[in-house]
Amino acid sequence: MTKIRIHKKNNGSMVLLTGGANPALGQEIAKLLGIRTGNVTLGRFPEGEIQVQIHDNIRGKDVFIIQPTCTPPNESLMELLILIDAARRASAKRITAVLPFFGYARQDRKDRPRVPITAKLVANLIVSAGANRVLTVDLHAGQIQGFFDIPVDHLYSIAVLGAYFKKKKLKNLVVVSPDVGGIKMARGYAKLFGCDLAVVDKRRESASTTHVMHIIGSVAGKNVVLLDDLISTGGSIVEAAKALKAHGAKDIYACIVHPVLAGSAIERIKNSPIKELIVTNSIPLTKEKRISKITQLSIAPLLADAIWRIHNDVSISTLFFNNELGVEA
Ligand code: R5P
Repeated sequence: MTKIRIHKKNNGSMVLLTGGANPALGQEIAKLLGIRTGNVTLGRFPEGEIQVQIHDNIRGKDVFIIQPTCTPPNESLMELLILIDAARRASAKRITAVLPFFGYARQDRKDRPRVPITAKLVANLIVSAGANRVLTVDLHAGQIQGFFDIPVDHLYSIAVLGAYFKKKKLKNLVVVSPDVGGIKMARGYAKLFGCDLAVVDKRRESASTTHVMHIIGSVAGKNVVLLDDLISTGGSIVEAAKALKAHGAKDIYACIVHPVLAGSAIERIKNSPIKELIVTNSIPLTKEKRISKITQLSIAPLLADAIWRIHNDVSISTLFFNNELGVEA
């Protein structure tokens, strides 16, 4: 497994700013790096416009702005853009947009007539606002990196999630992708665990309804790790879990990087055959989402190590777990 190491030496030229989307993650990263997050006012004008002010002098500094574009996505995104703009106008030397979760990524191609490509639009907005680099985690599709004409460091949380499962020492395991789009990610985990891979052939009927057509591969009598990059309404994962149970699967674990958890996702998970849902803290969990079935693991050490390496021009490739091969790069 990739070893995550944090180095606390910092000569004061690194600045961490956090937006309002996940300040707890920002604080955790700052603590690991042995610094404080910068002093920022995140306010609103009476009608709702975002008003920010950076109170520290960041002239000539290497600035990292931590903001997943999670719920509420439009507020989070706009706040990120405005923070980047403020940092650029305050003469920051370099601005890295740290996006633990990159929202708007699912619309990454024209799959129907007259639809947008929001992943590209958002990438353009981030670059236009003044970001010089992007640091992100488990993009919905790896090729979204190419939507940015600035360097993108794309981390995989497999180092964190995989280690959690390794400790469980589960026997007779199969990794299952809930759709064909997730096979590459699932294959990385299957190689890590040294187990088989199965795939659910899912059809999406609407944004919140999916239908399982077939299961490709053998799951009968096996413990399952269902893998996905994000869980929104929970439809995909819960329908997949039900189908897997119907095909004779034993314990079903769901391992999902980004806990979007919209609408009735929590109720769905509570009433599903899923034994445990493991997620990261790329997106914070509100109180009502912190149920006993959900385990949240921190990616702060992964991000802190990456930030330290970017700041010190040290290679970051040891943090890139090669998903395709399932081995360290
Ligand atoms: C789809 O391609 C994604 O990887 C997820 O499977 C999907 O967005 C999950 O959505 P939901 O939880 O609403 O089924």
